[in-house]
Amino acid sequence: MATIREKLAEKIPQWREDIGKLVKEHGNDVISEVTVQQAYGGMRGVRCLVCDTSYVDPEKGLIIRGHPISELADRLPEEVIWLLLTGELPTPAERDAFVEEMAQRRKVPDGVWKTLEAMPEDSHPMTMLSVASLVMEKDSIFKKKYDEGIRKEDHWIWTLEDALDLMARMPVVAAGIYRLRYKKGPRIPSDPKLDMGADYARMLGLPNPNGELEKLMRLYLVLHCDHESGNVSAFATHTVASALSNIYYAYSAGMNGLAGPLHGLANQEVLKWIQKLRERFGGVPTHEQLRDFTWETLNAGQVIPGYGHAVLRQTDPRFTAFLEFGKKYCANDEIFQIVARLYEVVPDILKQTGKVKDPYPNVDAGSGALLWHYGMTEYDYYTVIFGISRALGVASQTVISRAYLEPITRPKSVTTEWIKQQVGAA
Ligand SMILES: CC(C)(COP(=O)(O)OP(=O)(O)OC[C@H]1O[C@@H](n2cnc3c(N)ncnc32)[C@H](O)[C@@H]1OP(=O)(O)O)[C@@H](O)C(=O)NCCC(=O)NCCS
Repeated sequence: MATIREKLAEKIPQWREDIGKLVKEHGNDVISEVTVQQAYGGMRGVRCLVCDTSYVDPEKGLIIRGHPISELADRLPEEVIWLLLTGELPTPAERDAFVEEMAQRRKVPDGVWKTLEAMPEDSHPMTMLSVASLVMEKDSIFKKKYDEGIRKEDHWIWTLEDALDLMARMPVVAAGIYRLRYKKGPRIPSDPKLDMGADYARMLGLPNPNGELEKLMRLYLVLHCDHESGNVSAFATHTVASALSNIYYAYSAGMNGLAGPLHGLANQEVLKWIQKLRERFGGVPTHEQLRDFTWETLNAGQVIPGYGHAVLRQTDPRFTAFLEFGKKYCANDEIFQIVARLYEVVPDILKQTGKVKDPYPNVDAGSGALLWHYGMTEYDYYTVIFGISRALGVASQTVISRAYLEPITRPKSVTTEWIKQQVGAA
């Protein structure tokens, strides 16, 4: 039975050969062009990045290495890491050995805790997550090997070591941040007998009725794991790693992007917005009240958090997976009921605005309500869970980029004057 490193060592020469041949034979073929609108519009739709770990189909949503995300909802996060990296699901024997390997990697250096404890008490938990990654940077195996002198062809090997350490450690760090930031008592040590999701749920120290919190955390880690490489956190991670900065630097940069309200912070915004709704109407509002409140938000020039997407044009299947979980385990919860009812109201309204390209809920619309139900009411923490899940994807993407021998990222920028001349504008 192969380890993940052996599996990759077997596949990478073939991947390199395929890509080498493709570039040699079709290097000058055009796959995208850039309009003036795109240059000023966040490069939306420009096809200029390669990401083989996942693909977002505008109608079907997230596809991980050929598997629609809805088919992976019952898998362990460790199985999904194996899939992201190798392109295959592990056999049961490979899965069990890998779960054990990942558990052994859950060792967080002391300096992380000391640094987090020294931070201002009101630091945002995303800041703490990003700082924790930077603290671990000094022990990067890739950095050490690079300083010793290694061949470019072998960069992926040591990047893989860092990537697996990062993925394994971040849930421990995140649980520690939760307990410290919200004064929940001493840290709960990791239990290496548990899988990643179950261990994370346990280290949070929240009630876990019938193992439901464990199930939710596994689902959470799987659903948020990857979303192509053009989103802010993945692209930031990719760009920083392309300078051969180690994964701790690169992931920290990605997390700083995830902390933005248009990206990962949206799940906290959703909960804030729902709380306002509940306060205003004293419980679960009627459809009519929800319509009024949605219009009021839009007329105030604000976005409806949890709705819309830069790529998707349908209900996000990750939202559907959370909705199904909620219907099964917390159907009587008021916050969950509001989320479900908003889904019946908001898309029609966003369509009426005539400008929102995707009027449907994204993953952030439903996830927070479930966390709230299990006692995690500190909603400014929610993005941290998104962040530790996203470590799976962005760290895998970094390993693959190095396996593909990709160079430093450096698109060309142009001036407004140049564009005017180019298009013959006055
Ligand atoms: C996700 C998001 C940033 C995508 O942005 P985008 O690709 O620029 O979206 P669009 O092309 O549909 O935007 C066109 C217009 O619709 C608006 N729009 C998009 N989503 C909207 C929403 N949920 N509520 C209100 N207006 C919205 C945009 O602000 C933009 O308005 P403008 O032309 O006045 O600037 C955007 O939908 C959004 O802000 N959603 C709410 C925040 C959120 O849930 N983020 C998490 C994403 S996973």
